[in-house]
Amino acid sequence: MNAVLEALEFRHACKKFDPARTIPEETIREIMRAAHISPSSFGLQPWKFLVVSDRALREEMRPLCWNQAQITDCSHLVVILTRREKSMNPDSDYITRVLESRGFSGDRLEDSRRRYEGYVWDELLPHMNIYAWASKQCYIALADIMAAAAAAGVDSCPIEGFSKSGLDHFLHKKLPQEMTGDLSVAVVCALGYRHPDWQQPERKRLPYDEVVRFL
Ligand SMILES: Cc1cc2nc3c(=O)[nH]c(=O)nc-3n(C[C@H](O)[C@H](O)[C@H](O)COP(=O)(O)O)c2cc1C
Repeated sequence: MNAVLEALEFRHACKKFDPARTIPEETIREIMRAAHISPSSFGLQPWKFLVVSDRALREEMRPLCWNQAQITDCSHLVVILTRREKSMNPDSDYITRVLESRGFSGDRLEDSRRRYEGYVWDELLPHMNIYAWASKQCYIALADIMAAAAAAGVDSCPIEGFSKSGLDHFLHKKLPQEMTGDLSVAVVCALGYRHPDWQQPERKRLPYDEVVRFL
């Protein structure tokens, strides 16, 4: 079987992690490399990834996340933050820096900036806000994290069940500005190893031929 598909077949939303098991340092760094190289529209990487192993911090986060046990029982909790209006503004220092880091300068950089402005700010933003657009990019990284974890035999659970305002407020109060400035939580991903008692339910999906159509 295709190795990626094999990893995706292994992946499931793990609801019960073994709190006694920790992902080795090298493995978690490798999984997060998948996030680091994830694709994003215009290559703008509108994200930051907080990889939280600190249990005390996760104890404080748990009530803000529907009290879900995965928050504290997993090995590492990845909080995927997305960029907000100030840094995603076409003329922001962030946009300049990221375009420069991609090798653009002078007229080419200004062309890219204006193409981004024309597409996202002029065409898309009347239909959605920048948080929604930037979060879509974050979910690509989320999928890459889960796939890379699965390929390494690490279980995951994507988590949207949290109080957005509560978690944003907590992280902004608790963590340095350098980690959270102009950022807001998009989604969370618990990583670790399934508990020996955990019975993985059978995969349930609508029929393949209904949802996948070849023309
Ligand atoms: C964006 C997203 C958010 C989710 N949020 C939660 C959550 O807060 N808690 C939870 O237990 N599962 C959560 N899930 C897991 C889904 O319930 C699960 O992926 C779905 O039931 C399919 O099961 P499977 O992933 O095991 O194939 C989430 C999944 C996604 C993709």
